[in-house]
Amino acid sequence: MSDRTLHLQWIERAAAATKNGELERWMRTELHSQAWESTLDVVARHARLSQATRVADVGFGWGRVVLGLAMRHPNVQFEGIELAPEFVEAARGLVDGAGLTNVSLQQGDVYQWRPEPGRYDAIVSTRVLHYLDDRPTALSRMFAALRPGGRLVAIVPNRWCPPQWVAYEHGLVDPLVLASEARAAGFTGVSLRSARFLPRAVASRLRAGGPARVVERVLGGLPPTRWLGALLVLVAERP
Ligand SMILES: C[S@@+](CC[C@H](N)C(=O)[O-])C[C@H]1O[C@@H](n2cnc3c(N)ncnc32)[C@H](O)[C@@H]1O
Repeated sequence: MSDRTLHLQWIERAAAATKNGELERWMRTELHSQAWESTLDVVARHARLSQATRVADVGFGWGRVVLGLAMRHPNVQFEGIELAPEFVEAARGLVDGAGLTNVSLQQGDVYQWRPEPGRYDAIVSTRVLHYLDDRPTALSRMFAALRPGGRLVAIVPNRWCPPQWVAYEHGLVDPLVLASEARAAGFTGVSLRSARFLPRAVASRLRAGGPARVVERVLGGLPPTRWLGALLVLVAERP
């Protein structure tokens, strides 16, 4: 099954689960597909999925990221935890529909999450940390669940990017505070990069997999441009 086929299946499930017409229209755009594929690229690279055996997705929602990663990395075992039971059900339906055998999804709260210590080579959490009231507790749970040398890759909306000031009505986490919370939880090698630089009008004219990804990748590695991207990528390692 191709990335696009899985993404379309995912959209049908998510639309049924949310019943939000505006969200559904956005999900069906080409730009949404591009954003999904570029998120998978960014996460896979920073989480070093090519060397991983077992990876967790915290707050997997409707499973958009974990399912895409599982399809692209069939040798990696993915485990997910998500607070909302209706999202867990929707995402499980998609796992079954796609015939994926390397994904296991559970309902649960990250604050209570106590997997076997050191269980994961990497933990991925996309667009979740900015919703959490008690990030220090969540970060320490993730730290304990990683093996030494394992990586946390967390994506949050970029508060330094002006368009996000209108896109998000609730407060966005200060990236420097997030980085210091990660260090306080014990992580080292904490870095912040940004992603999704291209304005919608430009990105939607560039084919996925083409120049848009090259531009994103080059700009994402340059610290002076970090306030331009719509998303911030926190990468942190358990020593
Ligand atoms: C914006 S969604 C992101 C979903 C998915 N990671 C993605 O990128 O498409 C945020 C998700 O975090 C989940 N979440 C919020 N608080 C949580 C908690 N304490 N434990 C686990 N999941 C949580 C929500 O239920 C929601 O599905």
